[in-house]
Amino acid sequence: MLIRPATGDDWRWLWPLWRAVVAAGDSYTYAPDTAKAAARGLWMLQPPAEAWLAEDGPDRPALGTYLLKPNHPGPGAHVANAGFMVSPDAQGQGIGRLLGLHCLERAREIGFLAMQFNAVVSTNAPAIALWRSLGFDTVGRVPRRSGIRSWAWSTCSSCTAGSENTAMRRYPGPGSRPARGGVRLGTPG
Ligand SMILES: CC(C)(COP(=O)(O)OP(=O)(O)OC[C@H]1O[C@@H](n2cnc3c(N)ncnc32)[C@H](O)[C@@H]1OP(=O)(O)O)[C@@H](O)C(=O)NCCC(=O)NCCS
Repeated sequence: MLIRPATGDDWRWLWPLWRAVVAAGDSYTYAPDTAKAAARGLWMLQPPAEAWLAEDGPDRPALGTYLLKPNHPGPGAHVANAGFMVSPDAQGQGIGRLLGLHCLERAREIGFLAMQFNAVVSTNAPAIALWRSLGFDTVGRVPRRSGIRSWAWSTCSSCTAGSENTAMRRYPGPGSRPARGGVRLGTPG
């Protein structure tokens, strides 16, 4: 298996994989009916973002992919964010782990100090197990809300010893108190 940078031409291989994963609606917040061109614009981002592709010869041109990018611009650009997709018919064969390891190494190589995933769906057992095994810690959990089918987790990991980041979130909830402008903020649980 080869993991290499994805080019614009590779979208024809990546699109069926991307569509299958996103249409399932259980791992990403992209709209499940995102059209091909719009999806390309979401995944094949301009630098400093990088899309990578795992292939196994011409018969299996897109086993998986990852997107590596700054989680925030400017002073927050030292923390990376990444998204991963393995073709449904190739999941559970170790490709996600190889992509994860490759992505962490690549992030270090190009100077990121940490990596944060903003919303890993709590029911996504393979993803949570994989990220934990690669050293990610869960730093918070978004409460389940009516109409939302699962919780989402936020995770973060240091790529480099000595670098730390903290993700903080606050949500309305029982015991909330009014804030300026009439917005209600939850109290720490
Ligand atoms: C999550 C995903 C990237 C993992 O890739 P994968 O190739 O299926 O995973 P791997 O085969 O490398 O397995 C890695 C680890 O995941 C865990 N895992 C895999 N399948 C699992 C399952 N069904 N249940 C629980 N854990 C599982 C195991 O801990 C495994 O570690 P091991 O090597 O010790 O067995 C892939 O399943 C995928 O693309 N899912 C849909 C999109 C997605 O969820 N992306 C991530 C969003 S945060």
